[in-house]
Amino acid sequence: MFSQKLQILKEKGLLREIKDRVSPQGPKVKFGEREYINFSSNDYLGLSIHPYIIDRAKRAMDEYGYGSAASRLLGGGSILHKGLEDKIAQFKDTEAALIFNSGYSANTGIIPAFADEDTAIFSDELNHASIIDGCRLSKVKTLIYRHKDLSHLEGLIKKNAKRKIVITDTVFSMDGDIAPLSDIYKICKKNNAMLYTDDAHGTGVLGNGKGALAQFNIKPEPWIIQMGTFSKALGSFGAFIACSSDVTEWTLNTARSLIFSTALPTCIVAASIAALELIEKDSGLIKRLWENRDELSRRLKDIGYDIMGSETPIIPIKTGGLENTLRISRHLHKKGIFAPAIRPPTVKEPRIRITVTASHSDEDIERLIEALREIKPLNNQ
Ligand SMILES: Cc1ncc(COP(=O)(O)O)c(C=O)c1O
Repeated sequence: MFSQKLQILKEKGLLREIKDRVSPQGPKVKFGEREYINFSSNDYLGLSIHPYIIDRAKRAMDEYGYGSAASRLLGGGSILHKGLEDKIAQFKDTEAALIFNSGYSANTGIIPAFADEDTAIFSDELNHASIIDGCRLSKVKTLIYRHKDLSHLEGLIKKNAKRKIVITDTVFSMDGDIAPLSDIYKICKKNNAMLYTDDAHGTGVLGNGKGALAQFNIKPEPWIIQMGTFSKALGSFGAFIACSSDVTEWTLNTARSLIFSTALPTCIVAASIAALELIEKDSGLIKRLWENRDELSRRLKDIGYDIMGSETPIIPIKTGGLENTLRISRHLHKKGIFAPAIRPPTVKEPRIRITVTASHSDEDIERLIEALREIKPLNNQ
């Protein structure tokens, strides 16, 4: 049964496969014998290989061992788990925070924990798959509003439910655009709705690293829940919610992905604390990230590429159809550039998703531009 289905995926150009790196993550990666310039990672600040962070993880491993051996509720967490939550609460200026094993497990655990039979969820159509799955697991009425369409959201929200939760990515992971948070905040406030933001790609990138709320000058309030991950700009692994202590306590008591899953290893937690410390020290990494982002997006536009409304270091390029997307991806591969094609069902419209980081050199950017200049998208020729 599966071989036939796999064959169909292959014929449609939709078969996914994992490429096995033989190097660490970073601006250059090696697959087999060959080195590539890497424009595929979410390690926006290059922290996944930062010596300060690696040292802290090693020290925690010496002190606490590796595995956590049980869920935090069952086996207790280390004091570093609690320390990371205190650090996140201070960093996000909230009363409390709670950590999860990944962004995926946060969204699929928290959303069902928040929703009851009186709840309706309002979710942007381009929200991440983990939000979609969290909404499905909640089994409550979920109304999808058109991407960033405030009047659609407002129209839906007025008609519906006693309890309302608006859920939005802050930075949309395949499009690289930013949610209009000031307006969404106002709509939530006016309609007495809870606001749940997924700041996976905003934390460490927007608002001087503090995330999307800081970027929009929105002060945390008890009805706002900020979810974020340690797995992207913080170069680590895991996720969090930053919110009021009532909310963390409720979540701790009800989110199945937290209750029924082994806690993060303490060395990973130590790495996340160290990453937050580095961001707070502001070593110029965020500035460099945005300089690279601005340079690359300008150069891409100059050579005729459509970057599809990108406003962040996630820069998709419009490629006009699956075949052409694969053609460009193969060309980049030949040129020693790793920027894979993103295809349905991840997105409706295939594209090459480029992510630029603080670690890319001017020469890395130049090489990408040169390679893309050689092979313009069909619809631009
Ligand atoms: C917006 C968004 N939310 C959640 C996740 C899931 O995070 P994680 O990779 O930590 O599971 C991702 C990452 O893929 C994401 O892009």
